[in-house]
Amino acid sequence: MLLSLALVVILTSPALSTTIAEIQGHAFQSLYAGEKVTHLTGTVVAISKSGFYLAGHPVKDERVSTGLFVRSSASVSLGDSLSLSGTVSEYRSSRNDLSSTELISPSSILVTSSANTIAPILLGQDRSPPQGQLSALDVVAGPDAWLSVPNNVSQVDAGNESLKPQTYGLDFWESIEGMLVTVPSPVAIGFNDNYGEFWVHGAWNVTGKNSRGGLTMVLDLDGLPDANPEMVIIGRPLDDTTNPTVAMGTTLTDITGVVHFQYGYFYILPLTAPSVISSPTSAAPPTTISSSFDSCIITIGDYNVENMAPTSSHMSAVASHIVSHLLSPDLLFLQEIQDDSGSTNNGIVSANTTLSNIVNAIMDMGGVAYAWVDVDPLNNMDGGEKGGNIRQAYLYNPDKLDLVPGSPTGNATEATAVVSDGSGGYTLSYNPGRIDPTNAAWKDSRKPLAAAWQTRNGDRLFSVNLQLTAKLDSSTTEGNTRPPINAWVAERMEQVAVVATFSQSLLASSPDASLIVGGDCNEYIYTTSVFAPLTALLSEVDSIATPPVPPEERYTYVYNGVTEQLDHMFVSAAVAGRGVSVQHIHVNNWAMNIAERASDHDPSVLEVKVC
Ligand SMILES: *[C@@H]1O[C@H](CO)[C@@H](O)[C@H](O)[C@H]1NC(C)=O
Ligand SMILES: *[C@@H]1O[C@H](CO)[C@@H](O)[C@H](O)[C@H]1NC(C)=O
Ligand SMILES: *[C@@H]1O[C@H](CO)[C@@H](O)[C@H](O)[C@H]1NC(C)=O
Ligand SMILES: *[C@@H]1O[C@H](CO)[C@@H](O)[C@H](O)[C@H]1NC(C)=O
Ligand SMILES: *[C@@H]1O[C@H](CO)[C@@H](O)[C@H](O)[C@H]1NC(C)=O
Repeated sequence: MLLSLALVVILTSPALSTTIAEIQGHAFQSLYAGEKVTHLTGTVVAISKSGFYLAGHPVKDERVSTGLFVRSSASVSLGDSLSLSGTVSEYRSSRNDLSSTELISPSSILVTSSANTIAPILLGQDRSPPQGQLSALDVVAGPDAWLSVPNNVSQVDAGNESLKPQTYGLDFWESIEGMLVTVPSPVAIGFNDNYGEFWVHGAWNVTGKNSRGGLTMVLDLDGLPDANPEMVIIGRPLDDTTNPTVAMGTTLTDITGVVHFQYGYFYILPLTAPSVISSPTSAAPPTTISSSFDSCIITIGDYNVENMAPTSSHMSAVASHIVSHLLSPDLLFLQEIQDDSGSTNNGIVSANTTLSNIVNAIMDMGGVAYAWVDVDPLNNMDGGEKGGNIRQAYLYNPDKLDLVPGSPTGNATEATAVVSDGSGGYTLSYNPGRIDPTNAAWKDSRKPLAAAWQTRNGDRLFSVNLQLTAKLDSSTTEGNTRPPINAWVAERMEQVAVVATFSQSLLASSPDASLIVGGDCNEYIYTTSVFAPLTALLSEVDSIATPPVPPEERYTYVYNGVTEQLDHMFVSAAVAGRGVSVQHIHVNNWAMNIAERASDHDPSVLEVKVC
């Protein structure tokens, strides 16, 4: 009787004496949000510019955090044990963010003792982040989990589920929100961002570890695209020291800090900056795929050269990569060639100077004397940097290949088509020419550039050089929105479908045609719904190559900690049947710092046989 009376009092009292564990609870949202609490106790474990972090009494339940951020300008010291009152708040700065549980408007702050020490949670030992998925909501969204289409179909905060910290990454990091943790033996998995922040994993189990030390997007044990919940971003140090400059594979001294959700991600805000223990030193090795005297063997390079203008300071580095690392492939698929006035928005669309300058820079470095072809876009109609008029272009070694003669060069608006050459073979009506350039799928985006080539022996090869719409405006992977918003994915789906229709038209006429479709697809192969129409006809080279590229080495890009492949090459059955080799050459993502990169993408080299 007495007991149930006491319960009634606790459940109905407006001003509660409560614990941090009770405030945090075992779900994403605090049941106390908006309520005033009194006589809350805890020990100060970290102090930031906007408040301090309290450690409360530990509890056994792994779903429950016993840390809490107090938004306050009160003067407290590390190690102070406090009693205080305040209002519980779920704070978010953007609608796609998870909310952060905080105590606001603190009052009656009483220091009860000083110089207390709180042991941090040792991650990888006391608690370990799960591998695989970030959220249960992603798993039910579709066969591609967090990459399922449609995305943005549910919100974490719409439910009130108990956290599953051993299974889902968001649940894990939420379950230690506000707590002091140590990352033992951290390894950086990418460059610092503009604020000096960088992503790491520590001494715990990880998925997709590549030879350089980064974490590559691969499939998890359930065959779903892995969202790498075991990585975490290290924020600016709370004591105003400066984070070291890191790159993929830099090893660091242990990092101790507090877990805090901000800017769309769970951060660890370090008490002080770590120091570098070791930096990866070996430069990216060049390809072992080299051009052959055999006219049947064609080497193909694929490189997004990032807004290349005639006077770009990165042109010589790119030329050097093409000569020294790609070994002057017979045919180069380039993306992001700007017009002759670069980003000056003046109506110029020709890229003749840009392309001749690259060709000359390659020759100056002892490379092949390339010829080049492209098709000028209409001014400012293909997206990208305003005035830049980026487009795809081909460089080719005229000793190995030539365009199949007899067709005019296309223009911005005329669609090229597969046509009979009048002597039993096939060519393109415009060579090179753009694929269905007036199709709405290409609005504000680059139209694919198709070409028909022949070797000295007359063997033919068809190519499609792509740059699909970019992912700009996507939501963060650790946000409230599930699956995360994969911006412009509907456009990429339509674009791939147009390319598939073109590929089908070639293969319908000529089932044995040698066709290579490649470029910057701005999408992961694990977003299977985007590539389905194309992969029904063609094979991505990474998995069919001899030897196949190990899944964790399939990458051309690093973004927010994830090493990933946005650049893909697909080949027709005839090419696949003769065997291919492919290598991704990490001249940029293995740089020692972000400023040393020539482009944000790594190039790739492919070898195919056309007879
Ligand atoms: C995501 O979904 C929310 C809620 O359904 C909607 O308001 C918002 O516009 C969507 N955002 C995008 C980019 O689709
Ligand atoms: C969330 O679930 C808890 C029980 O786990 C329940 O007490 C509470 O009322 C729920 N809150 C909401 C907003 O549904
Ligand atoms: C890490 O992986 C090993 C080997 O698969 C396994 O035995 C161990 O339980 C894993 N540790 C954690 C914390 O999951
Ligand atoms: C660019 O080069 C092409 C082919 O070499 C030529 O037809 C075209 O007139 C040139 N454009 C300009 C603006 O010089
Ligand atoms: C492309 O060529 C076609 C056929 O010659 C012509 O009608 C059209 O005006 C041209 N478009 C552009 C943008 O030059």
